[in-house]
Amino acid sequence: MNTIRFILNNHEITTTEHPATTVLDFVRRSAHLTGTKEGCREGDCGACTVLVGERKGTDSTASVEYISANSCLLPLGDMQGKHVVTVEGITLAAQSAPNSSQPSLNLVQQAMADEGGAQCGFCTPGFIVSMTGYSLTAQNLTSEGMTQAIDGNVCRCTGYASIKRAIDRVITELADSPLADSPSHDEQRISRLVRKRLLPDYFVAIPERLSVLQERIKTDVANNGAGLVHTAKFAIGGGTDLFVQKPEALLKSHVQLLGSPRAPIMRVHDEDGWCVMDARTPVADVLASPLVQSHIPQMQKFLTLFASTPIRNRATLGGNINNASPIGDMTAILLALNTELTLLAPDGTERRVLLRNYYKGYKTLDRKPDEIVEMLRFKLPDDDTVFNYEKVSRRTYLDIASVNTALQLRLKEGTITEAHASAGGVAAIPLYLAETVSYLIGKHISTETFLEAASIAVSETSPISDARGSTDYKRLLLRQLFYAHAVSLFPKKLNVGTFVS
Ligand SMILES: Cc1cc2nc3c(=O)[nH]c(=O)nc-3n(C[C@H](O)[C@H](O)[C@H](O)COP(=O)(O)OP(=O)(O)OC[C@H]3O[C@@H](n4cnc5c(N)ncnc54)[C@H](O)[C@@H]3O)c2cc1C
Ligand code: FES
Ligand code: FES
Repeated sequence: MNTIRFILNNHEITTTEHPATTVLDFVRRSAHLTGTKEGCREGDCGACTVLVGERKGTDSTASVEYISANSCLLPLGDMQGKHVVTVEGITLAAQSAPNSSQPSLNLVQQAMADEGGAQCGFCTPGFIVSMTGYSLTAQNLTSEGMTQAIDGNVCRCTGYASIKRAIDRVITELADSPLADSPSHDEQRISRLVRKRLLPDYFVAIPERLSVLQERIKTDVANNGAGLVHTAKFAIGGGTDLFVQKPEALLKSHVQLLGSPRAPIMRVHDEDGWCVMDARTPVADVLASPLVQSHIPQMQKFLTLFASTPIRNRATLGGNINNASPIGDMTAILLALNTELTLLAPDGTERRVLLRNYYKGYKTLDRKPDEIVEMLRFKLPDDDTVFNYEKVSRRTYLDIASVNTALQLRLKEGTITEAHASAGGVAAIPLYLAETVSYLIGKHISTETFLEAASIAVSETSPISDARGSTDYKRLLLRQLFYAHAVSLFPKKLNVGTFVS
């Protein structure tokens, strides 16, 4: 068993527990830090939220970037060399609390208490950790931004008005501090947050302590080997799917942690007009990518519909396409971007396959058991190209789609020269709408074109009735969503009223 070293709040941890132990179980059962609560164990309630800090860069000025994450879906092995922060770790240390020998509440905790932001208190640590995490990472601190950052936290008794008041109070308290001027995560920001009593002062030394820790880990690896098993039974990306589906099986298996910082992660970058992304890139990084924004400005809006902040911080592109869910959001988007995958075999052999040819049947992929998806790439849309994504779910946020669809069109003088379209939730696999695409190419943009394309799209599908809707309902949804593409992309060109019937 390999040694896992990390800093938990202010303490260095060395453990040989199974790498697929959840951080939730470790902090509650092994570290006896029971402030982190166990609710759903499925990433839905946010009671278990923790912060995970990772050192970025290698020189002495390297800073630590923090994300919020659901500890119930977080593999302990992925904490190697990182800083894990629970609600206990943001309480101010005794020495920084005037006139008290007890640890005192930080700015966020105090605001929640003063504004009546907790009743039973079960959800409260999760809210507090998410709000503190936002203060550490946001470029501009706003009430709206902090409210967005608690999109993965559910409270069943307090009601959100008092939590919102606590948020406003924190933002007001921070307003006279020029945090917005300092880049997120950097030393200056941490020092200011310490002065503002939002963080305990041990945070200042964390970058240096992680650097020392990483040297120890290098020695462990030199002595024992990296311990990574390419042919492990489970390859874990972010774990947001695997830890919901198979938590017990993971604990009995060899696991390969794809997200471990064993190689520089090439997240999202431009390579000769292609957007190239490491398969381990979390959805949050695509949402925040300036490159993606500049070519697909609506992407931020589309991806805000994906789960919640802590899930997006961990959910990887590789995990989304390989769990092969017919309703994956990223999968539907990547299909319509005509994405190409690079697969890597244990002997280093690479091969490329188009995502639209990857799905062979329900959860059956064009991938050998020992291959992993290494990279993804798609042509960056140019000025002649338009892209749209539509999703319907039973509630707007933190819900998977009933039906989703994406459409990309390249135009020359009003004629479609290239098209790619996808639909989710209407077949056993994420569907590339091949017949619709072949119909669209060469057609002029007109209401008739979209009416016909929607009807072909529906004819390509074979939805089943389930908890998310009947066969007929899903067909109807897809047709309407195809019309929504038309309305979103060409509101002035088309007779929008025709689609409302
Ligand atoms: C509360 C909640 C809400 C969610 N909401 C949404 C939503 O709105 N939209 C949505 O699309 N999904 C949603 N999901 C599902 C999930 O978060 C995503 O599918 C996510 O992208 C999975 O990525 P992961 O890295 O966490 O996958 P993991 O759990 O790590 O892996 C999933 C599968 O992919 C395989 N895998 C992972 N990476 C690779 C790779 N590089 N090569 C080969 N195989 C690989 C794993 O072996 C496993 O079989 C939600 C999940 C939760 C818990
Ligand atoms: S216990 Fe509910 S999100 Fe983790
Ligand atoms: S205070 Fe009881 S669940 Fe939020």
